[in-house]
Amino acid sequence: MKNDKVLKKLIIYEIFVRSFCDSNNDGIGDIKGIISKLDYLKDLGVNAIWLTPIYVSPNEDSGYDVSDYYQINKEFGNMDDVKKIIEEAHIRNIKIIFEIVANHTSSKHKWFESAKKSKTSKYREYYIWRDNVNGGFPNNWISSRTGKSVWTYVKETNSYYLHLYTPHQPDLNWRNENLRKEILKIMKFWLNFGVDAFRLDVINKISKKDGLPDVAKNVENGYAELYFENQPEVHDYIHNIRKEIEKEYPNCLLIGQTSGVNTEQAYKYTLDEKRQLDLFLQFEHTDMDKGPLGTLKKFNLEKFKSIIFKWQKAYDGKLINTVFLGSHDLPRMASHYGNKDYFEKSVKMLATVQLFLRGAQIIYMGDEIGMTNANYNLIDDYSDIRTKDYYYKRISENEEKDEVFKDIQKISRDNARTPMQWNDSKYAGFSNIKPWIKENVNYDSVNVKKQISDDNSILNYYKKLINLRKTEEILIEGKTNEIDLGNELIAYNRRSNNKKITVIGNYSNKIKYVDLSCYGKKIIGNYKKCYLDKLMPYEVQVFKEVINE
Ligand code: NOJ
Repeated sequence: MKNDKVLKKLIIYEIFVRSFCDSNNDGIGDIKGIISKLDYLKDLGVNAIWLTPIYVSPNEDSGYDVSDYYQINKEFGNMDDVKKIIEEAHIRNIKIIFEIVANHTSSKHKWFESAKKSKTSKYREYYIWRDNVNGGFPNNWISSRTGKSVWTYVKETNSYYLHLYTPHQPDLNWRNENLRKEILKIMKFWLNFGVDAFRLDVINKISKKDGLPDVAKNVENGYAELYFENQPEVHDYIHNIRKEIEKEYPNCLLIGQTSGVNTEQAYKYTLDEKRQLDLFLQFEHTDMDKGPLGTLKKFNLEKFKSIIFKWQKAYDGKLINTVFLGSHDLPRMASHYGNKDYFEKSVKMLATVQLFLRGAQIIYMGDEIGMTNANYNLIDDYSDIRTKDYYYKRISENEEKDEVFKDIQKISRDNARTPMQWNDSKYAGFSNIKPWIKENVNYDSVNVKKQISDDNSILNYYKKLINLRKTEEILIEGKTNEIDLGNELIAYNRRSNNKKITVIGNYSNKIKYVDLSCYGKKIIGNYKKCYLDKLMPYEVQVFKEVINE
């Protein structure tokens, strides 16, 4: 049954398919590879896996540029493999989440190929076309992905098409009813195959403001988010899709990627009586670290806490969060938030703070063993289109190569896309041949095989956390209350009826004196020896208490 409890119990494992496990030794991860690791995932304790797009794609943006929504990219396998993974996952009580990338298609999609050739094409209105204005772009919108205009000119029809991302990703025109029907058809096709849920890529951007007005350039820098995020029609479009889907597939979960939403908008998407989404992904806590194009700001714990707890407490805890620190678009959680001098401790502390928060949990592949940023030294080692765009744009603006490269090393999406580190054999046990992207040099020390047999490993610690989440009902239903213990400490409790679980973490490399004697019995922590008056560097302790009121 689909209800809020199902959502709060979700522990989703995100798989960047190309880099997870290569079963046929072509250097590219595939579906059969994932099937071979389902027991590993079951043992880890997750109950859903989200696969990044596996459809046919020219792969300009790692599959987020689909050229055929009904076929699987051959590199990943075939339809029988899809049937098999769904079957095998379901045997293990693991749900399968597919992506629907419907803000844009690939420019190689047959709809676009036809639309760009002729104004009378049946598919012309599936995309957004405009004539030039005074010989130039139709408006002044700048793509936050490329830093350039969102318009690309097409000679055949002497007109421009809109793309919020790269020119390889023309935006779809959701005002067109036939297009909306096509998207519904695609979703039903995969639901019929047995898929349980969808992650709807950048779904809050699908509708653009009527008339596509210019943005005040000096104010918004040309980024036109206010004209294409959360426009009123979006809610109707998704609500109608949901209504149609629920008629045949009442248990299907819709998880919307909705960057830039505030709590009111998230409420509207998920809790409004015209409910559209079951869950939303918001990025306020990760966006806070983004500096100007291609840079990363220093992490600020106080700000992070205020954002996390704002979302946890919104609408008296009714808003169901998705809780994550990593993804295929972000730097590695261990590198970004952790401390390399206290590596294992800091990663375990972060995992504890994350996994005991309220809401659907998302673990990004490899974070459960503490995989780190890529460690590449050459720009040619990187593959991601966004990374290369950032790099060459800044170089072309005469920025110092070394400085730009240092930023790339911190922020590149490839940091999280290196091959999964299964063991210490060549290519990290991901493949027997050279992978499509270079493996991280640290695979001999950071890998699954090594951690499975080490009781004290990050991996086994994750398993304990997940197990506690499954056995302690308060971690599902309890409200979250922040406890203010001061700078460099992060603390909260989860409370329901007569029980309370309290999490207290030290986010620093110093000893912190705190009275820990009043929170009950310790149930987990990342140090063997613990004190009741202090926390060691990056220590976390979790207590459980039965309250008699
Ligand atoms: C969000 C996805 O997470 C990202 O990887 C992709 O580049 C954009 N959407 C465009 O589809």
